[in-house]
This record gives sequence, structure tokens and C-alpha cells, in this order.
Amino acid sequence: MEELIGQAAEIIMNSKFTMALTGAGISVESGIPDFRSADGLWSKFDPAEYASIYSFRAKPEMVWEMLREMDKVVSQARPNKAHLGMGKLEKMGYLHCIITQNIDNLHQMGGAKNVIEYHGNSSTLSCLWCGKKYKSEEKRDEYPPRCECQKILKPDVVFFGEAIPEYALNRSFQLASSAQALMVVGTSAVVSPVNTIPAIARQNGAKIIEINTERTHLTDTVTDIFLQGGAGKVISDLVEAVKGNEKN
Ligand code: APR
Repeated sequence: MEELIGQAAEIIMNSKFTMALTGAGISVESGIPDFRSADGLWSKFDPAEYASIYSFRAKPEMVWEMLREMDKVVSQARPNKAHLGMGKLEKMGYLHCIITQNIDNLHQMGGAKNVIEYHGNSSTLSCLWCGKKYKSEEKRDEYPPRCECQKILKPDVVFFGEAIPEYALNRSFQLASSAQALMVVGTSAVVSPVNTIPAIARQNGAKIIEINTERTHLTDTVTDIFLQGGAGKVISDLVEAVKGNEKN
């Protein structure tokens, strides 16, 4: 693994434009379960029933049963060594943009400034009827949270059946076509269109560095370097290798 970490550090240091694509796996070490691992969120809540915009419109109280569980862990979560390490790589000038599927704000709390949120962010809530917005913490004790117009509020996250924010879509594909290196961290890469980013980057000559506890369908198709392990330790080791190279 040390040799692979060294090769990944070389790629990142020689890349003029490096991006990252992250998923729920990067936040598991912050106490937030991912979706598709054995004890993931979708093992408790059927996404078709709890995570679609149609379900939210029809049965918001039921959907808030799942949202409340997520909110309990997300509101307590702090950035782990993976988020902090990526913030450090950005500060050192070796990571230029993070595309995240996560809604937990942990990349920003971990120091990253250039973050594109594909699926929104759970720190604000909106009323689908009068458009009023609230900070999630303003409504933390209310369940389900209601707008002053008495309608149940929706977190500003993308549900299945909703469009990905136009900006995120356009910007991420534009950047992926000019990246020289792409770190893919903690994602099963099964949800489209974000899961096409690695192939687009590779088609344009980028080197793909995948960090995951398990192999994914990317590993044998687009990945150049597979660093198997927890994101916290792997990214910390990667940052140390970059720092070591800088000294030499
Ligand atoms: N370190 C690195 N990888 C990890 C870790 C860890 N500590 N723990 C889990 N993983 C890996 C798993 O092996 C898996 O490949 O993270 C991945 C998580 O995959 P998913 O649970 O499918 O999460 P994600 O890829 O982010 O899902 C994408 O699907 O349901 C929607 O909107 C939801 O944004 C989410 C999207």
C-alpha cells in the first residue's frame, strides 16, 4: 500500500488540476452511516418509499421519520481525518475542487473552500408552499418542522425524482473534462449522473485514484490506483506522502 500511496502522491503533485468526487463513505468515520453498506441507511428505510420527492409531497410526516434519524447524526457530526486531509491538500494547492454527493457540510467544516454539492445541503430547510427558508438548527426541536404558514418544511437536499442543481451539473462536467487527476473517495458510484464523472475525467486523460474500503464497479474499469482502506487513514497517509515529497 505504501508504494501505491507514493504513486498517488506523485500523480497529485504533478497534476495541474486535481478534483475529487466524494460519497457517503468519507463521512462514515464521522458517525454518519452510508447508504448501501450492510448497515447503511437504505437497509432501514426503503429509498423508493422514504427518499423520493413524490413521497415527501404525499407523506411528509413519514419521510421526516428518516430525515430525523439522519439529522440526529449529521447535526452532531464533525469532520474526520479524511475531510481535514482534503482541506489540507486544497490549502497546499494540490486539490482544486471537490464534488460531493454528501449533504453534511463536513468538507466545508474540514477547511475545503471549493466544494460543489450535487445533492444539496441539509443545513437549511425550505417551504414548498410559500418559499420561506430556515436554518435547520432553528427548527431542531420541532418535529416535523413547520413553516410559519404551517406547512411541513423540506430540507434543501435533492430527493430522488428532483433535478440536480443546474450549476453543479454544468460545472462538474466542465471541470471533469479538464482534470488531470481525480480522487474518487467513499462512493459506490451507482447513482447517475454524478457517477459518470470518473469516466469523463478518464476519457480526457485524467488519472483516477480510488479510495474505498471495498472494490466498486469503477475499480476494474476506470481506476488507475486503488487505495483500499478507510478514507481517514488513507488520505492522512497521502497528505504525509505529499509533504515528504515536498521536502525532498
Ligand atoms: N472509507 C472509505 N470508503 C468507505 C468507508 C470508509 N470508512 N465506509 C464505507 N465506504 C464505501 C463503501 O464501500 C461504498 O462503496 O463508501 C461507499 C458508500 O456508498 P453508498 O452508501 O452507495 O453512498 P454514495 O455512493 O454516496 O451514494 C450516492 O445515493 O442514495 C443516494 O443521495 C444518496 O448521495 C447518495 C447517493
